[in-house]
Amino acid sequence: MRIDIITVLPELLKSPFEASILKRAIEKGLVEVHMHNLRDYASNKYKQVDDYQFGGGAGMVLMPEPIDKCMQQLSSERSYDEIIYMTPDGSTLNQQTANTLSLKENMIILCGHYKGVDQRIRDLWITREVSIGDYVLSGGELGAAVLCDAIIRLIPGVLNDETSALTDSFQDQLLAPPVYTRPREFKGMKVPEVLTSGNFEKIEAWREAEAYRRTAERRPDLLDRS
Ligand code: ADE
Repeated sequence: MRIDIITVLPELLKSPFEASILKRAIEKGLVEVHMHNLRDYASNKYKQVDDYQFGGGAGMVLMPEPIDKCMQQLSSERSYDEIIYMTPDGSTLNQQTANTLSLKENMIILCGHYKGVDQRIRDLWITREVSIGDYVLSGGELGAAVLCDAIIRLIPGVLNDETSALTDSFQDQLLAPPVYTRPREFKGMKVPEVLTSGNFEKIEAWREAEAYRRTAERRPDLLDRS
């Protein structure tokens, strides 16, 4: 998989890809992530990439020309399965979208800033608009990092234990059951006996029951959906 991220703040996006699972995925050659600084595509000498909005009102808008130039450059080099715009008015990211996107080959992620990007860029280039939740961030960068993390960990070979992504919360519309590690007793609290019984059928049944119980208690809306 190859991900190209277009941003005015590439430095904000560095660290998530320099640690832990995402770093290892890149080192293993399972994913390539390339940052493109929008200012490098600005045409005037001040490297201007934003301007006032027509009709008045507070907040700047990212100009169409630099984004279009960058999109044209990238699209001339390879074809893209998705060109995603990070925006609070996009459709809310969920596990199903992450699963779908994890199967793609090449993707561009455009990060919005200030009031967002000129609508004509959305009309012309964007195939999918993604929000990471009903709140407003200062820009799309942190959203893009969240989206990349959710996608990349699903690529086969990225996680060490191949089954572990399948047992995550949401993979089967359920929250994950509780987990325990050593010691067996901690501050007087014991690990549920079934987990140390060695009976895998019983363990599976317990986990499933706990997953339902937790989902019913915390996210009954997930049960209504299926
Ligand atoms: N940019 C600003 N707010 C955002 C959000 N909630 N999700 C994605 N991108 C954003």
